This record gives sequence, structure tokens and C-alpha cells, in this order.
Amino acid sequence: MRVSIIGGTGYIGLVTGIGLAAKGHRVICADIDRLKIENIERGVLPICEEGLDALLQEAKRYGNISFTSSIHSAVIISDIVMIAVGTPEGINGETDMNQLLNALKSVAAAMDHHKTIVIKSTVPVGTNDMAATLIKKHLKSSSITFDMVSNPEFLREGSAVKDFMNPDRIVIGTCCNDAAQTMRELYRCFDCPVIVTEPRSSEMIKYACNSYLAARISFINEIAEICEKVDANIQSVIDGMKSDKRIGGHYLSPGPGFGGPCLHKDIRSLIHFGEQAGADVGMLKAVLERNEKQIESIVQYIGTILKSIKNKKVAVLGLSFKAGTSDTRNSPAITLIRKLVETNCKVSIYDPVICKIEEHLNSSVIMAQSIGEATVNADCIVVMTEWEEFFTMNLDVLYNGMRHAFIVDARNIISPDRALKAGFQYKGIGVQRSGAHLNGDHLMKRII
Ligand SMILES: NC(=O)c1ccc[n+]([C@@H]2O[C@H](COP(=O)([O-])OP(=O)(O)OC[C@H]3O[C@@H](n4cnc5c(N)ncnc54)[C@H](O)[C@@H]3O)[C@@H](O)[C@H]2O)c1
Repeated sequence: MRVSIIGGTGYIGLVTGIGLAAKGHRVICADIDRLKIENIERGVLPICEEGLDALLQEAKRYGNISFTSSIHSAVIISDIVMIAVGTPEGINGETDMNQLLNALKSVAAAMDHHKTIVIKSTVPVGTNDMAATLIKKHLKSSSITFDMVSNPEFLREGSAVKDFMNPDRIVIGTCCNDAAQTMRELYRCFDCPVIVTEPRSSEMIKYACNSYLAARISFINEIAEICEKVDANIQSVIDGMKSDKRIGGHYLSPGPGFGGPCLHKDIRSLIHFGEQAGADVGMLKAVLERNEKQIESIVQYIGTILKSIKNKKVAVLGLSFKAGTSDTRNSPAITLIRKLVETNCKVSIYDPVICKIEEHLNSSVIMAQSIGEATVNADCIVVMTEWEEFFTMNLDVLYNGMRHAFIVDARNIISPDRALKAGFQYKGIGVQRSGAHLNGDHLMKRII
């Protein structure tokens, strides 16, 4: 099938475009960001995702993928137009629809015959209906027909290619049987259940999933805090919970709170449109409040152990919001760094895949090239991302280079025994200050 992806060099657009091309479709990725297109054509991908480059090379070999900054030319030659532009957070938590509205207008203006228009972006409930009205208004001729489909994406950054190519399910929201059939055909080579529903439920499924995942993270962070206060072992509690088939183990790792481009803004959006519709959204608000407390408590703890943070050096290990991605959007590490910089703390940073930080923080921090460089003369290490390199870092060597030997392990990935043996004072999330509860076995399980 001939498919154009609008927003085709964005995180979701690029993975979707490359994935569909690798499955044999003729894909054209259209984006207003010319620089990203030039870079991709030179072989430089804008995102770091395992397997993406190899899949792109495969799609190119079959001549199945191309890139353009002309939305018009992409739309004209395709049967399916898939929109994957950004839907960021607006000032009051509402979804900022500007990218989507512009994309819909460009698509409508370019259409000269029937198209299936698919919204892959995460959009508030009712957007597909609104989009149909907008497109009709901007068509060159009222005789041009189209079908609207909602098709939310569930891939996770860090395993984007694997998730896209092997989804748990595909959700298709449309009231039109022909459009549902077109979408089934598009995803014919994907081995998973296909759920066909009407657009509003499809749009809501995405918000319900993301809010539920965020709720699990906030829940386990709260349980971790209680464990710490009542002297229970958070890892034993998680082990006991996850072996219950009704619960499972996903999204039950205590940490610095959820970040990334989606969870926070999607809950804020759900709260916004849920409240506008007159629903009680108290639980969703509590999930966000709990999340914000996580970084506060890490900053407070650093302040307590270092007596005063001013002029102390803190080495932050990990910038991305999770391992396996270079995405720093809404990363807890960036929030932490901002707070530390505000208190005149010296901050050095190391991340295995990121060597630049937001411009306004640039003059206040040092970007190191290695763990050793980041931690030398530091007073405290804070582990913010669960990169594999940090699981096994040589603590004896780091200890010798540091001014004070404190580790705040916001991912619970370092064995407290190992840290204590190397001479560090250790603090994990939901772990007693001595770290006495964790013996490191759970880490091995995670690595395996
Ligand atoms: N990133 C994720 O993990 C993830 C997962 C599931 C769903 N989503 C959803 O997918 C959507 C896209 O997210 P993303 O992370 O890929 O965003 P992104 O910012 O990485 O990509 C958006 C792309 O759209 C392009 N764009 C903006 N306006 C355009 C226009 N008018 N015409 C053509 N291109 C235009 C931008 O240049 C950019 O390349 C969002 O709704 C997001 O909530 C994201």
C-alpha cells in the first residue's frame, strides 16, 4: 500500500514509516523539519533506537522508503495518510493542537482523490470528529471523499522498533467498514489481535493505558516510601506482588518518577478534558502529585547528606528519561539538574548516548565523557537512568577519585552491599539508608 506519514521524521513517525516500509509498504515520510530530513538522507538518524538503522537500510534496499518536506507531494501519491505530529502539553494541561491542525489543513489542501486519513498522534477524545469537519472545510472540492481513522501508538521509547514490529494489539477506531478493512490490510503482516472500535473509544484507550501505567509508577513509589519508613523491603514486596498473575511486574520499579514525552502530558490532557466533561479526576491528579514529590525528595536527601548543596559537586549519571533512548523530554534527570543548579550546586553529567544539554543549562554544568570524568572530585553520585553501564561501574576506582563518597541510586540498580564495601554511603528509593535490605540479587534478575 502507498502510505505517507505526516510528521515522518518525529519519534513515532520515523519508527512507523520505517517499520511499515520494512513490512513491504511504499512509504513516504513527510516533515516540515528539513534539517532532520537532510540528516536522515546523510545516514544520521535523529533518534537512538536499537535496530532502527538496520531496518531503514533494509527498507531502502527494497526502495520502499523516501523522505520529503513537501506534504503536498506525499499526500497526492498515497492511499493512506497517517498523521504522527506532536501533540504537546498546553499551558493549562490541555493538548496543544497546533501541529495537528496545521497538518490536517495541509493534508486537506493537497487531496485530489479518496484517502484514508489516520490519526496516530495521541489526541483528546473527539479529535477525529473535529478533524473530519476541518478537512471537509479545507478540501479543494466537496466531491473529494475520505475516511477518518484513529490508530493510537503504544510503542515504548527504548524498545521502539521491537514494540512497533511486535505490538501487543493494534487499535483501529473508525465507523466506516471500508476504512477498517483498509487498516486490517495495512497491518496484515503484524501478528497480533486487532481491536476495531469507534474513534472516541480508540482515542480514550490510549489515555487510559498511559494513565494506568503512570498510576502504577506513582503507586509503587508511594509503597516504597512507606517501606522505607516501616522498615520493610521494597524489593521483596515487589517480588511478592508481581508473582500474582492479576498484577504482574511491569511498571513496578521505584525510581525518580515517570518522565518522557508522553505520560505526564497525556495525564494532564486527560485531567483537562475529563474535568471539562464534568468527570471526577481526583485519582489522576494524585498520580501527578506523587510523581512530583519524587524529585523533591531526592534533592532534599542530597541536601541532608551534604549539609549544604551550595558549591558542592554532584555527578548526575544518566540524562535520558529511561535507558535505551536519547530522549530527554520531561526527563526527571533534567528536572533534578535544574533544581541543583538553582541552588548553586556544581553539576557534572555523564550519559552514554547524550553529549549535549538544553542551551540555558549549558553554562552551569559540565558534560563529561565518562563516568570517571563526571565523578572526579564529586561529593555525591546520583544515578538517574538505568543504563547498563551504571549497573557494573567500578565503585572502588570511583571512590578514590571522589571528595565525599555518597551514592543516591534513584533506580535501585547498584547493589548496596557493593557500594558499602567500596566505602560509599548508599541510598536507594525505598531502601533504608544503610541499604541493608537489598543484597543485589534482584539486579541480576533484571539484567538477565
Ligand atoms: N514518543 C513516544 O514515545 C510516543 C509513544 C506513543 C505515542 N506518541 C504520540 O505520537 C505523537 C508524536 O510524538 P513524537 O514523540 O513522535 O513527537 P516528535 O516531536 O518527535 O515528532 C513530531 C514531528 O512532527 C513534525 N511536524 C510538526 N508539525 C508538522 C506539520 N504540520 N507537517 C508535517 N510535520 C510536522 C515535527 O517536525 C516532528 O518531526 C504525539 O501525539 C505523541 O503523544 C508518542
